[in-house]
Amino acid sequence: MSAKPTLPAPTDAFVASPLGTPLSPSATKVMLLGSGELGKEVLIALQRLGVETVAVDRYDNAPGQQVAHHSRTITMSDAAQLRQLIEAEQPLLVVPEIEAIATPELERLEAEGRVRVVPTARAARLTMDREGIRRLAAETLGLPTSPYRFCDSLAELQAAIDGTDGQPGIGYPCIVKPVMSSSGKGQSKIDGPADVAKAWDYAMAGGRVSHGRVIVEGFIDFDYEITQLTVRAVGASGQIETHFCEPIGHIQVSGDYVESWQPHRMSPQAQARAQAIAKAVTDDLGGQGLFGVELFVKGDMVWFSEVSPRPHDTGLVTLTTQVQSEFELHARAILGLPVNTALRSPGASAVVYGGMEAQGIAFEGVREALQVPNTDLRLFGKPESFTKRRMGVALAFDADVEVARQRAKEAASKVRPVKG
Ligand SMILES: Nc1ncnc2c1ncn2[C@@H]1O[C@H](COP(=O)(O)OP(=O)(O)OP(=O)(O)O)[C@@H](O)[C@H]1O
Ligand SMILES: [Mg+2]
Repeated sequence: MSAKPTLPAPTDAFVASPLGTPLSPSATKVMLLGSGELGKEVLIALQRLGVETVAVDRYDNAPGQQVAHHSRTITMSDAAQLRQLIEAEQPLLVVPEIEAIATPELERLEAEGRVRVVPTARAARLTMDREGIRRLAAETLGLPTSPYRFCDSLAELQAAIDGTDGQPGIGYPCIVKPVMSSSGKGQSKIDGPADVAKAWDYAMAGGRVSHGRVIVEGFIDFDYEITQLTVRAVGASGQIETHFCEPIGHIQVSGDYVESWQPHRMSPQAQARAQAIAKAVTDDLGGQGLFGVELFVKGDMVWFSEVSPRPHDTGLVTLTTQVQSEFELHARAILGLPVNTALRSPGASAVVYGGMEAQGIAFEGVREALQVPNTDLRLFGKPESFTKRRMGVALAFDADVEVARQRAKEAASKVRPVKG
């Protein structure tokens, strides 16, 4: 296969123009690596612009595969499978939607000029494990983060907490996370010496690959946490410009988001700091697209936690709150189109869980849920339910964000998963 000569360097401003007709030689083809509920909404946004879409996932009939032109099922962490698919499909853009991807292979494909990775292949690599992004944020960019250390054994973990490894001790309470994990998997809080071995074992069982490496972080006693959605898009001048959405507040239970709302009121000082941190980290990661910058806030103090170089689950709320949802913003930004991050109305989202382990479940109470004023619902169509798997989300808007939160929760509670 010959390299596509039209691709600019990954860091240069890029405009996909003209946009073609799907399923014809002029098609503008975009491949999503990961086709869950977030990818599904990005795919729908791309479809609306006449983009030809390829939805890739590790299992058949993933939510995004149900709305794309083409579906492919591969192991995305397998470099050979990933290269083969990209070479066969020749998409203009490759859009990672999950972290568990063979990102070094994406870097090679990008360096060969075969494909443009969103936002960049380097950003995908740095954010796929906690070590890459934490070292970049804290050590290279000097951003405020929790104190932390990386450990490869229980003995190293204990030494890092106690400070017997020659560095300041992380102390108690602290949080242990596998470096390769998401959605809170393998993550636990340590309140005292009695919890250390248990937290280590839990992390070893919960990591994505048996990596044997964890981060231990000092516990930040924050007032609240937010997601700062940040968009890098080509402006009227042809240069990449940074846009901020209104802050999204959220509640996490066991590392998984259960509720989010927008806007979350912040002091002007904290908001300025949040935006400065988000700007610094997204400037460094580069490319075009939307990022979810996770921040902890206490008074006017703000700590960087982590960043997704793609739409964020807590940003599902923007389906009801913004003129352009985070998915539309991502689709537009990656194609080099103008973006509008304005809020349409305050609003909230609440997660609908599967509540059972079964295939092909059904949902009762949808009618009652949608009778709650100013609500909407997404059912993702996941073929298999787990007790704690996110199967849908309820959305609500209202001038009063607290009213919206109550209504989103009420609507979500009326949706009852049942055996299909
Ligand atoms: N150092 C910390 N101090 C206090 N709370 C923390 C700390 N680290 C994590 N948390 C809490 O745990 C939640 C999940 O942590 P984190 O975002 O690091 O992992 P994750 O959610 O598994 O990753 P992902 O967002 O990729 O799914 C945070 O949103 C926050 O509520
Ligand atoms: Mg997180």
